Amino acid sequence: MPGLLSSPVCLTVVWFLSWSLRPSCAQIWTNEVSDVQFGRLGSNVTLTCGKSNIRTPAVWHLNRSSALPWHKVRSDGALVLLQVNHSAQGNYSCSDSQGLLLHSINLRLGHPPGLLSISCQVPNHAHVRCSWVEPVKTFLPAKYNASFRGTGQEWTPCVVNVARKHCDVDHPAFWSSMHTLRITETNGLGSETTFIQFQLHKLLKPDPPQSVSVMGIEGYPMRLNVSWDYPSSWPRLPAFPLIFQIRYQPLGSAYWSEINSEGTTVIICDALAGHLHQVQVRARDEVNPETQWSEWSPVLPVWPWSVSTTPDPEEEDFFPFSTKPETSTAESHNVVPEDGGNLGLVILLVLFSVVILTTVFSFIFAVWVRQKRRNHVTKQELTSMVKMKSMPI
Ligand SMILES: *[C@@H]1O[C@H](CO)[C@@H](O)[C@H](O)[C@H]1NC(C)=O
Ligand SMILES: *[C@@H]1O[C@H](CO)[C@@H](O)[C@H](O)[C@H]1NC(C)=O
Ligand SMILES: *[C@@H]1O[C@H](CO)[C@@H](O)[C@H](O)[C@H]1NC(C)=O
Ligand SMILES: *[C@@H]1O[C@H](CO)[C@@H](O)[C@H](O)[C@H]1NC(C)=O
Ligand SMILES: *[C@@H]1O[C@H](CO)[C@@H](O)[C@H](O)[C@H]1NC(C)=O
Ligand SMILES: *[C@@H]1O[C@H](CO)[C@@H](O)[C@H](O)[C@H]1NC(C)=O
Repeated sequence: MPGLLSSPVCLTVVWFLSWSLRPSCAQIWTNEVSDVQFGRLGSNVTLTCGKSNIRTPAVWHLNRSSALPWHKVRSDGALVLLQVNHSAQGNYSCSDSQGLLLHSINLRLGHPPGLLSISCQVPNHAHVRCSWVEPVKTFLPAKYNASFRGTGQEWTPCVVNVARKHCDVDHPAFWSSMHTLRITETNGLGSETTFIQFQLHKLLKPDPPQSVSVMGIEGYPMRLNVSWDYPSSWPRLPAFPLIFQIRYQPLGSAYWSEINSEGTTVIICDALAGHLHQVQVRARDEVNPETQWSEWSPVLPVWPWSVSTTPDPEEEDFFPFSTKPETSTAESHNVVPEDGGNLGLVILLVLFSVVILTTVFSFIFAVWVRQKRRNHVTKQELTSMVKMKSMPI
């Protein structure tokens, strides 16, 4: 073997093999460390073949294939892609005329950031959340840096959630008359800062009241008892009282009646006896009337108490809307087992009749066979008798 390896022919073969395999090995290695280059959609993008200019003509590939988008190659070997669109994205590699890989570039195309459209929510005095959308899609990964301040104060960071595109400030300086938020978006093609100014108290809008419940009052056909809780996002402190508004109407009426309340329960005294009513509650900061009302709580239906429908739990149904789907699901539940029952019954009946028919037929068959055998026997007896008779004695 050593003799064979050292033979000149074999050495030449080994050298040739290693030389011809070298470019592809090199390509696999360098692709893993390719540069990322960003380009603007619709522009001409220039890709250079490494830092040093090469004299021999360069050969360019996209995603390891030789089909390139609309382009020209400059004399220094640089590739100019003309008016690029999305299909020009990918891995570009440039090799010399012998196929030796010189450089590879991962090209990503998109737009530089534009101004953001920002909106802020203030569900209580201790929290501000601002969210944003990009009016123009950039197609490129972006970073955001957001900060916030009241008039004449230091910038404090607004903590960014990149995936959800919002940022949060805890304990903003509520007493400042004006607040500024700035968000800087940065991507591979540039950066842009958007400012907005607002008055925090004008954005203050609690969440709707929670656990709203409403019921008739026994013995009072025109009264309804409404109660609710503070929204869980609102701190239950004496310094931050809420005022509530309750509205109600008989179902089908065009008008709502309204009551304000500082507490969390109210008795309506002018309900329309014997009619289904709808009730909703909303909340607002009690101290500052410039703040916003919350959304209304979901509509609750309720019957006032009446003599005919005295405490029969089945009849006195406070939530006819919610019971409806229940009955319909109960119906659909009933349908399936009923169907299955019918099918089982049919199968049983068929099996039963098959068994009966088989028994009847085998009985008839047995009788028939017996009869046949008896006939046969009598025939034989007869013939033997005839034979005996005809026998000469
Ligand atoms: C482009 O190169 C990157 C590494 O630089 C690799 O992860 C990716 O799969 C390549 N894509 C194609 C289409 O070759
Ligand atoms: C791109 O290059 C082409 C050809 O060189 C030229 O006609 C065109 O004006 C260039 N477009 C831009 C946006 O530079
Ligand atoms: C993208 O540009 C290439 C030319 O480089 C063209 O053939 C192709 O139709 C374009 N694709 C779209 C979606 O515009
Ligand atoms: C090249 O590969 C990238 C993914 O790495 C893909 O988005 C692009 O469309 C491919 N381009 C061509 C021309 O195949
Ligand atoms: C965000 O902006 C602030 C103020 O300009 C700066 O101090 C901070 O370094 C920036 N942070 C990042 C991650 O760019
Ligand atoms: C109204 O309802 C609340 C809560 O369910 C209850 O505490 C209160 O006693 C009720 N008031 C009347 C007059 O029924």
